[in-house]
Amino acid sequence: MQTKEEWFIKRCFDLALNGIPTAMPNPYTGSVIVSGESIIGEGWHCCPGKPHAEVVAITDALNQGYDLIKEDVTLFVNLEPCVHFGKTPPCVSAIVNAGIKNVVFSHKDPDRRVNGEGLRYLQEHGVRVKEGILREEGLWLNRRFITYHATGRPYIILKWAQTKDGYIARKDYSSKWITDELSRQEAHRLRTTEGAILVGFNTAIHDNPLLTARLWKGLNPIRIVWDPKGMLPENLKIFNDKSAETFVITAVDRKYGKANVKKIQEGQELKATIDLLAELNVISLLVEGGTKTIQKFLDSGMWDEIRFFESKNTFFYEGIKAPSIPPDAIFLFSMPSSQNDTNYTFVNSQTLGTIIDFSRLNSELIRFIP
Ligand SMILES: NC(=O)c1ccc[n+]([C@@H]2O[C@H](COP(=O)([O-])OP(=O)(O)OC[C@H]3O[C@@H](n4cnc5c(N)ncnc54)[C@H](OP(=O)(O)O)[C@@H]3O)[C@@H](O)[C@H]2O)c1
Repeated sequence: MQTKEEWFIKRCFDLALNGIPTAMPNPYTGSVIVSGESIIGEGWHCCPGKPHAEVVAITDALNQGYDLIKEDVTLFVNLEPCVHFGKTPPCVSAIVNAGIKNVVFSHKDPDRRVNGEGLRYLQEHGVRVKEGILREEGLWLNRRFITYHATGRPYIILKWAQTKDGYIARKDYSSKWITDELSRQEAHRLRTTEGAILVGFNTAIHDNPLLTARLWKGLNPIRIVWDPKGMLPENLKIFNDKSAETFVITAVDRKYGKANVKKIQEGQELKATIDLLAELNVISLLVEGGTKTIQKFLDSGMWDEIRFFESKNTFFYEGIKAPSIPPDAIFLFSMPSSQNDTNYTFVNSQTLGTIIDFSRLNSELIRFIP
């Protein structure tokens, strides 16, 4: 049975989803103002530089003529209200100035400029504060932002499609048509929710991919290709297409069409990728293969989520084996991505598993949160 507080925080999650993905690299936040049992104001954060969810909800209630000082109102928000001047003034002052006396939020903000300070400010100004309502589900909603601020590296999702007998490509490196059109659409949707996308050498040369989100409306991620030995031909689509920025990570001095080049020492591809994304303030990375590139992330322990698609009707019998799921990965859920394919989600017990208590997380509640 859901409590009323959980119901209102769940409504905050629903509102926060409106900010996907335009709010990135900011967190996804939604807020409701409740008087008695009724919602009298709602808001969400849409984009960096625009008002935060709490301010939008307060403005909404005031515009409708509610007196927030007189009314015994509670402000619900999924993330601890901010206390610092960023591109907008702090939300805690807006809450106190509006005369709101009760605040309920889901979890603390790990951004070192906030991290409990928002809570302290509100309490020092006479506001009753309650935290921890649907905490694990709130952390899941903002797992990219949370990971970035808690660890300093982007949230890393490893994604691939495999045949029923466990292959990602044929012996000749062709890998077309493992999954069907609907699953490919879902894979393109995934591209729109992540800040960057990465492929390895063999995938770049054999698939010649564009790595854009053509089957789903949304933003294209920044593209990254690993070419340590500098051997990729300059005429690949990704080096000449202008629909997204491309970075090549290589140890060789050379040009790649319109792409940016990040020079490294061979063997430093993974670290250079993380450093580059930190420089660019990109909070999430989708690694799309192939197996050898994904395996480098698995071996380093630097990954957070696995999303793989499995087709029940496709068999290759031989070829390039799909990556192996580490034995201590936590299985979260699976769901059909089409009539023929299933999408499985696992998480890393050593990274995200130390932030979110997965034994307490309601996977039914979060399975449709991107
Ligand atoms: N089904 C899917 O979801 C999916 C997704 C992406 C890709 N794919 C398929 O996966 C296949 C590629 O996967 P993969 O695991 O073989 O490789 P990959 O991860 O795409 O590329 C990395 C590997 O390329 C090899 N390589 C060969 N020449 C190289 C060079 N000059 N410089 C750097 N690396 C070089 C390296 O192998 P060594 O370490 O052995 O040298 C390196 O580990 C393709 O056929 C692609 O179609 C399938």
